[in-house]
Amino acid sequence: MKTVAVVGTQWGDEGKGKIVDLLAADADVIVRFQGGNNAAHTLVVDGEKFILRLVPAGALHRGKTCVIGNGTVVDPIALLTEIDDLKKRRGVPEDFLKLSYEAHIVFPYHRAIDQMREARAGKRAIGTTGFGIGPAYEDKMSRAGLRFDDLVNFKSFTDKLKRNISDKNAYLKAVLKGKPVNGAVILEAMQRARRRLMPYLCDTGEYLAEAIASGKRVLFEGAHGTMLDIDHGTYPFVTSSNCVASAAFAGTGLGPGKLDGVLGISKAYTTRVGAGPFPTEIKGWLADSLREEGVEFGSATGRPRRIGWFDAVLARLAVRVNGMWALALTKLDVLTGIDPLKLCVAYQYKGKRYETMPPGRHSMDTAKPIFEEMPGWMEKIGSARSLGELPANARRYIERIGELAGVSIAIVSVGAERAATIVLTNPFA
Ligand code: IMP
Repeated sequence: MKTVAVVGTQWGDEGKGKIVDLLAADADVIVRFQGGNNAAHTLVVDGEKFILRLVPAGALHRGKTCVIGNGTVVDPIALLTEIDDLKKRRGVPEDFLKLSYEAHIVFPYHRAIDQMREARAGKRAIGTTGFGIGPAYEDKMSRAGLRFDDLVNFKSFTDKLKRNISDKNAYLKAVLKGKPVNGAVILEAMQRARRRLMPYLCDTGEYLAEAIASGKRVLFEGAHGTMLDIDHGTYPFVTSSNCVASAAFAGTGLGPGKLDGVLGISKAYTTRVGAGPFPTEIKGWLADSLREEGVEFGSATGRPRRIGWFDAVLARLAVRVNGMWALALTKLDVLTGIDPLKLCVAYQYKGKRYETMPPGRHSMDTAKPIFEEMPGWMEKIGSARSLGELPANARRYIERIGELAGVSIAIVSVGAERAATIVLTNPFA
């Protein structure tokens, strides 16, 4: 395959960063197509930890081009901080990144609105990252948003921004009973950011089309996960963009025929941050122990993640919605020492068994998981580099997940480091 999309199959945090970093070695161009800095892709390279929020995870390889596509929403200050960090720690060259003219800008008033709404919602809060992503997408859809192409004519950009600040401050004060944002500070920060960001602006759709036409390998890096998708996830406890593979087209300016295959990423168990239904959730000491072992604390916000068993109903939904070719299973090592292991094979809902999602996503509020138990293993598996080096029970667990999800397993990750991986099929091979 020459063009591959990597997407999360659960509620985000599946370990996409590590898999994208791994596959980026064989790609020429790595492109983000949705979301913003609410994503946080953690990578460990040569013992050093990197958290990338906006820049595609391919940035840690030399000689790759990273693209931030039109479907994203970008906080310019967060992006510049990330670029500076990559320059300092990795010496990335000036031309490593291309930013779409059509990507939308996230402003401090988006953050203020996001945080104030969450604070006022109390128990009904969604548990957003507070980075202003929902309000920025709202502005995009209501056509009030500002894009990077607006920066080209700074005079008209300033006029539009002033109007937005005035509208948002009226809303912040009157409806949310919050503090207004300081327009002068925002304008000054944008003026400084503009100078630095202009060189990165690019017609990324054309760039990608030409890259594909000239035989380059392109990796599309999904953020968040299928269950956080605005249409197919656990609405309203979702993020504000489409996170599924089809978003890679609208979010980059390419058509469906340009994608050769989709690799879904799933943890060997399940986690989620924020509120919302979670049928296979585990409570108590076992959840605490898995959280510690798997370092399950949000990379974007530091919040403890909720923990659950692997859920094949979610996996089947992800296979369908994303048209998945294969699955990469991550964090298998975290399950060492747990016996028995449980796998959710179906849901019980209103007295009926469902192998796929029962009708209406609210069914997840009351659906009960039907579990199957499997024997665990006690051996440390972090040094395994082939299936044969894994304990028999770990191999059976992987096989069973493939059977239940109905796709083959292409990659198994057994640790945070790049090298701690069993590659069964490399999609770019
Ligand atoms: P927002 O994307 O900040 O609006 O947050 C909406 C929901 O998506 C919240 O439950 C967040 O915790 C969740 N969320 C957003 N991005 C990620 C991610 O990258 N990983 C996990 N959860 C996320």
